[in-house]
Amino acid sequence: MTSPTPESYDAIILGAGGAGLMAAATAGQRGRRVLVIDHADEPGKKILISGGGRCNFTNVGAGPAHYLSANPHFAKSALGRYRPADFIEMVDRHSIAWHEKTLGQLFCDGSARQIVAMLLYECRQGDVTIRCSHDVRDVTHADGRFTVVHGDRVASAPALVIATGGPSIPKLGATRFSYEIARHFGLKLVDPRPALVPLTLGADEALFRELSGVAHDVVAKIGKTAFREAALFTHRGLSGPAILQISSFWRHGEDVGIDFLPDQPDGWFRDAKRSRPRAGARSVLGALLPDRLAEALAERLALAGEMANLSDKALQAAERRLADWRFRPNGTEGFAKAEVTVGGIATTELSSQTMEARKLPGLYAIGEAVDVTGWLGGYNFQWAWASGWAAGRAL
Ligand code: FDA
Repeated sequence: MTSPTPESYDAIILGAGGAGLMAAATAGQRGRRVLVIDHADEPGKKILISGGGRCNFTNVGAGPAHYLSANPHFAKSALGRYRPADFIEMVDRHSIAWHEKTLGQLFCDGSARQIVAMLLYECRQGDVTIRCSHDVRDVTHADGRFTVVHGDRVASAPALVIATGGPSIPKLGATRFSYEIARHFGLKLVDPRPALVPLTLGADEALFRELSGVAHDVVAKIGKTAFREAALFTHRGLSGPAILQISSFWRHGEDVGIDFLPDQPDGWFRDAKRSRPRAGARSVLGALLPDRLAEALAERLALAGEMANLSDKALQAAERRLADWRFRPNGTEGFAKAEVTVGGIATTELSSQTMEARKLPGLYAIGEAVDVTGWLGGYNFQWAWASGWAAGRAL
């Protein structure tokens, strides 16, 4: 049996997520004939479930400082050329209502489905062909063209874009395909690991596990990196925005520090003894913390009885611990629960202007597949849009 003659395109994009759709629309509207291939049954599945169904589609303050990468400078060019204001302009052009929640995070008023519909409309404006439910069976490169066998079809193009994301949340269709194909073409990887992920605790950290369901505003820190947001105690460990943020920086064997009372001034516990000598230490803590947390911490710190009976030294020591409570996670909840992946295709392999591979002209990598990972709060989509746009301009 002879294989079918390949359909000819200017660019083939693997992956119909945020990055792939943005690259496709941008290149298509520049007159390029673009094919997008995805194995999922519909495009943009992660967009659809993001932000609790309302998609935190960007962050007004997004800049290079909000990203982790082995090369922190790499993201500057793309983020500088396609800014949050550019995406907001597109959202406004499509009359999608949005609002700012906290910390510069922008969400749809209605549904994340509007963002996917907008991107698909932009793709149609560029005559982009999108094929979902197509497994990519083979990718080869010869004579300056990439040939992709997908389902029972074959297509070829002088440009191929890896936009198949990272391995976070396999049940949404995430795979390691980006890495396999990068390796196949000789591109190096930065070891991928789960990020924006709950941390788990062993039996020795029983304090936290007893508190399942309690949430409190804290500062979570590792070294000089600190995030002030809510932490949530779970039956397996810790979650909530502050913990998800710090998890991206955490490595096995490291301690995480929690400041339970970030608003209290130095010496506040001793001052409380002067102003409320007859109050119980537990009730002083209880005025500042959720009851169950106050009780558990007071017990751990052996703070029993009235404030007047506790020495200044003991109160000072307790205050120090409450400001930097150290614990050592025994792991994370892994890729099954990770919102993103830290690591991926090494940025040293790519042009920061175009996302094109230095070793193999015509090959591009964008979005979460690349070793650029944003904080929680709309930064990851901004990277998907910006890197997709940069490649789309170059295709
Ligand atoms: P993405 O993963 O979106 O797309 C990759 C595409 O490739 C998918 O369509 C997949 O089906 C396809 N694919 C994979 N393997 C393939 C294969 N072998 N063959 C063919 N196709 C294949 N970020 C943010 O900024 N704001 C937010 O609100 C959220 N919320 C959020 C919630 C949850 C639950 C998760 C898991 C993640 C978020 N994120 C987020 C992160 C954000 O979703 C993520 O960074 C982007 O979707 C990455 O876009 P990409 O296009 O790079 O990959």
